[in-house]
Amino acid sequence: MSRSSVKILQESLINVIAAGEVIERPSAVVKELVENALDAGSSRITVTVEDGGRRHINVSDDGTGMSEQDALLAIERHATSKISAMEDLNDIKTMGFRGEALPSIASVGQFVLKTWDGFSDSGTCIRINNGTLSRVEPCGRPRGTSVSLSSIFGTLPARKKYMKSRDTEMSWCLRTVEETALTRPDIHFEITDDSGTALVYPAVTGMKERIAALWGADEVHRLLELRSEKEGIRIEGFISPPGDTYTRRSRHHVMVNGRTVRDPGINRVISSALSMSYPHGRYPALVLSIFLPPGGVDVNVHPSKKEVRIEQINLLSSALKEAVKNLGTRTSVTRYAFPRTPQLDVYQRAADSTTASVGNLPLPSVDNLSLPIEEGERVIGQYQGTYILLQSGSDLLIVDQHAAHERIVFNNLMSSRMENRSMSQPLMVPMVMELASSEIKSLLGKVDLLESFGLELEEFGGSEVRVTSTPPEIPSELLHTFIRTLASDLGEMEDLPEEIALLISRWACKSSITAGRRLTEEEMATLVDDLRHAEAGFACPHGRPTIVAIALEDIEKLFGRR
Ligand SMILES: Nc1ncnc2c1ncn2[C@@H]1O[C@H](COP(=O)(O)OP(=O)(O)OP(=O)(O)O)[C@@H](O)[C@H]1O
Ligand SMILES: [Mg+2]
Repeated sequence: MSRSSVKILQESLINVIAAGEVIERPSAVVKELVENALDAGSSRITVTVEDGGRRHINVSDDGTGMSEQDALLAIERHATSKISAMEDLNDIKTMGFRGEALPSIASVGQFVLKTWDGFSDSGTCIRINNGTLSRVEPCGRPRGTSVSLSSIFGTLPARKKYMKSRDTEMSWCLRTVEETALTRPDIHFEITDDSGTALVYPAVTGMKERIAALWGADEVHRLLELRSEKEGIRIEGFISPPGDTYTRRSRHHVMVNGRTVRDPGINRVISSALSMSYPHGRYPALVLSIFLPPGGVDVNVHPSKKEVRIEQINLLSSALKEAVKNLGTRTSVTRYAFPRTPQLDVYQRAADSTTASVGNLPLPSVDNLSLPIEEGERVIGQYQGTYILLQSGSDLLIVDQHAAHERIVFNNLMSSRMENRSMSQPLMVPMVMELASSEIKSLLGKVDLLESFGLELEEFGGSEVRVTSTPPEIPSELLHTFIRTLASDLGEMEDLPEEIALLISRWACKSSITAGRRLTEEEMATLVDDLRHAEAGFACPHGRPTIVAIALEDIEKLFGRR
């Protein structure tokens, strides 16, 4: 290689490289352009997306618009009207601040910008083909700006190949508009696809109305309001009740100072705040606005601004916990509502079948509703050594004793830890065991977390660990296998106390009130009583119901009495 091989890259190449980080798919173009429209003070933003954004994207607004001079500057790298001094970075009030989006977008396809500021003699139209300025001419348009991008990644085959199907890309574009629409209910948004049908979110006065436009009015009625304030941190939002959750964060929308984020750190704080009231591993529908004081958040830590750094994350965590506590959804029982079939039909079907049983009836629909477990219910027996039967008013309650026990142990572990009163049980003779070195490393990596649950261990020689004390919940005969499982699972686990508590409670339940053990009436009553007082007692920490209610009316129907 010759000595002169180091070169400064051409501007157009720099833009393409920058676009690699900012514009990874069509929805990123939508995001950047919509954010620019918001920063321009628009009240109406219209988005058109063809072929999932792969063929064409257009975003038009009625904002301030630009003069020809400004428009020409705007397409240069590092040209921005939004910040000018170093201090401005500490208190960013606009969506944009880097001056990177427009040149990046213009470098990855056929770019057309049309704008008019309401003062200049005419509007300006700028055309750029894959980063090369091709034309600047006057044009007519109302005040505001429209930017379009066609043939995205046309000259970048590797990136083009990386794009997903039309529907997948479209769903990302829609999600982007939905997310932005949630941050600004006061603005009218429209998004049109190939078919020409527009999804319209008219300007409304509050978040709740905007959520209704997105998810439907029925959904909104079920949402609970989240609210709290702590030392300058304010939380507002809506959340679905604990019986109404999803397996993914598909309906999670988190905003920090008006900016949508998808931040693993914040998600961890949310999971932790929900852990005592919501089933573990399930996600409620959530629209959460977090407002932090100026300087409390760094938005300049991620190429597409999806992640942020919050200085007082612990304060946010306690504000969130308080908001969740105030929800007041302590108990809700899963009620099995049998289908409202005409009585004869049910009766007839049961009679027709030679193996008539409840199992042959149409599957009951599950309806989660808030129903306090009433005082004065009575244990009437145990079924299959697994379920406790109770009479509560005219309802028959069925409690899964294993799930109930797991919830109770989980709650105790979490609250002991939170109150710093984790009871560790020192071992008279420390247990030394051999493990794979990767397993030892993952145990050591979480040593503080484990210690907060009473499990103390240290490295012993190169390939062994020495356990000196254990959580009292783990029966001694299971300790060895518990540590082995823990060591192999830890590597995959998130750094969450709930994960550890979940594992300990699962093992604690292995030996005691495991499914299949006969219980005395007193034991059953105590278990039910503990469950009644347990936070989120309606579900085990894995999200399965602990208690199911069947109404007398439904039982009567089974017997053709109604
Ligand atoms: N829709 C618009 N209406 C009015 N001005 C706009 C619009 N879009 C862009 N601009 C102007 O062009 C400038 C450059 O836009 P660009 O998106 O490239 O950078 P930015 O928004 O300042 O920062 P970022 O790269 O973080 O988005 C903006 O600062 C703004 O002054
Ligand atoms: Mg921008």
